[in-house]
Amino acid sequence: MQASLNALADELRRLKADGVKRVVVSDETITALRKLVEARAPKTAPSASAQAAASASASPSTSTPASESAPVVYSQLRQPAVRAAAPKPQPAATLPPPSPFTLPDGDKKTRWDALLNVVTTNPVCLKHVRPGKKIVLGVGNLDAKLFFCGEAPGAEEEIQGEPFVGPAGQLLTKMIQAMGVKREDVYIGNIMNWRPQLPTPSGMEQVGNRPPTEEEMRYCMPYLRAQLEIVNPELIVALGATAAKGLLGFDSFTTLGSIRGRWQQFEGKPLMVTYHPSYILRTPTNRTKRAIWEDFLKVMEKANLPVSDRQRGYFLEK
Ligand code: URA
Repeated sequence: MQASLNALADELRRLKADGVKRVVVSDETITALRKLVEARAPKTAPSASAQAAASASASPSTSTPASESAPVVYSQLRQPAVRAAAPKPQPAATLPPPSPFTLPDGDKKTRWDALLNVVTTNPVCLKHVRPGKKIVLGVGNLDAKLFFCGEAPGAEEEIQGEPFVGPAGQLLTKMIQAMGVKREDVYIGNIMNWRPQLPTPSGMEQVGNRPPTEEEMRYCMPYLRAQLEIVNPELIVALGATAAKGLLGFDSFTTLGSIRGRWQQFEGKPLMVTYHPSYILRTPTNRTKRAIWEDFLKVMEKANLPVSDRQRGYFLEK
């Protein structure tokens, strides 16, 4: 029941971040939800990982490459900001704090391979992947100029062990190609390395996805940071509210609409926040396609990619 409540709360947060202002709920459902929330209220307390993240966020982040000085301990890097004055009640911790790890000196491939080994042998990651399914690290060109960051693997991704290969991924690939770039030339990662689980009877396949909890995001963020450090892209594109919150901080904005399409920064690098491709799949109008495409045009300009008149005109027709 707790997992379903969390999933519901997360979905409502996601809708809110996407700009949805109202959802219609029956009186009976509201009464049932109230009872559930009242029943679990005494158990809420700041989670251990939230406290760990808060204390980690108090220490300055380091951007020194691991090869130049003392090894970077990834779990000690700055975590997304946690509002100090009025901490949000957090559900009881279900995950330990992120496991510290270091990467060896060497070239990008050596370091990425070591990271892959760290992630795929991490007991917490392994525990969150159902039998026969895979942990998912990013994929692509380690010298990429462009780093796309999504939310979490879905059904297809946890089968193949590669991000963005399902329906949303196929759309992302087409959008990247529409920029005149090949998928293999960019790097594509996620906030999460496992597919957030929903209660599923044993032996059955999980139906649907849920957004990750803040605790899950905090657990996986050091792996994303390590990928960003290895690839060292010129530009980052955050796809959707979860990616934006992971990179900019959980309390950095209220609605995705309030920050998308405008340049932000992640540790000194330009970061464009745009819609997640799954939003376009849910709302496939020229208006939504044009909105995300305009953000991609800004990315192309900033990355000094050639932009043709034809590309400028995509999705303008009503
Ligand atoms: N959605 C994401 O955010 N990431 C994936 O890898 C697939 C779908």
